Amino acid sequence: MILPVTERNIARVIAVLRAGGLAALPTETVYGLAGDATSGAAVAAIFAAKGRPQFNPLIAHVSSQGMAARYVDIDPLSQKLIDAFWPGPLTLVLPLRESSGIHPLTTAGLPTLAVRNPQGVFSEIIARLDVPLAAPSANRSGSISPTTAAAVVESLQDRVSLVLDGGACSVGVESTIIKVEGDKVFLLRPGGLPGADIERVTGRKLQKPDAQAAVQAPGMLKSHYAPNAAVRLEVTELRAREALLAFGAQRAKGYENAVALLNLSPTGNMEEAAGNLFSYLHALDRPDIAAIAVEPIPYTGLGEAINDRLQRAAAPRGLE
Ligand code: TXA
Ligand code: MG
Repeated sequence: MILPVTERNIARVIAVLRAGGLAALPTETVYGLAGDATSGAAVAAIFAAKGRPQFNPLIAHVSSQGMAARYVDIDPLSQKLIDAFWPGPLTLVLPLRESSGIHPLTTAGLPTLAVRNPQGVFSEIIARLDVPLAAPSANRSGSISPTTAAAVVESLQDRVSLVLDGGACSVGVESTIIKVEGDKVFLLRPGGLPGADIERVTGRKLQKPDAQAAVQAPGMLKSHYAPNAAVRLEVTELRAREALLAFGAQRAKGYENAVALLNLSPTGNMEEAAGNLFSYLHALDRPDIAAIAVEPIPYTGLGEAINDRLQRAAAPRGLE
């Protein structure tokens, strides 16, 4: 059931979450399927609804840095990032404190916890519950992340009973995930907070974890965010029966013959493009097309997160 954000509905969602149930809630990035991060039953229900491999740990959402400090140890560089960017699209992977109460299903047994303080009504609900909420994107595992309440229902169907409708997500791609190790700042997942902002605040160059490193986000599966249709990237010339996901003012050759065409941002604005990404991929994902052809998108600002999601959407399937 899709419910508008009213005091009454917020109270109803809180009652369901307190009883160990689930609710899909809006954040500034994407909709999350939320449950009590200290409850094994709630977290197991999240995995079941998503059809997600259990080795993939979840983000614990908190309503303040004070709340985060109850569960994790915060080093000085992570603290700087929290001061600068919370609440917002930034997740930090931090050492879990002993007897934290976070259920091991949330962390997939890791000694670390990914924490983030989201914006808006989600945070208000956490504050009133006074317990962290585990929340992956509210979609079946491996498919496109939802940025509207309708997209949540379309993906999860009757696997979710409550969806709080906060309108379209303002950022549109998932949070940036960072892990500080000593003097090094690792970018585990590019996302809604551009890497350049993080480098400015930490004064450190962002490091990419290498494929073997334990520091990698275990959920970064190659095939992810995948529509049903094939996806072709860096397209400068359209082929037969393709739908075109365009960007900027310059069109790929043969665009007139596109089965459908949507432009992420005609003016080349990266924020606008990120906000439209998942809903446009979804809209172009039609059974009558040969592929979704995507024009080249620059890597500046949010372009890194956009290209990351597109590469996963285009990756060979069947890895999840
Ligand atoms: O914007 C977002 O982050 C959204 C909204 C709902 O907040 N959530 C989201 O969650 O994208 P999810 O579950 O789709 O992605 C969580 C990512 C996965 O790649 C997972 O592997 C990584 O976080 N992660 C979680 N705990 C980790 C840990 N302890 N160490 C390394 N990576 C971790
Ligand atoms: Mg996801």
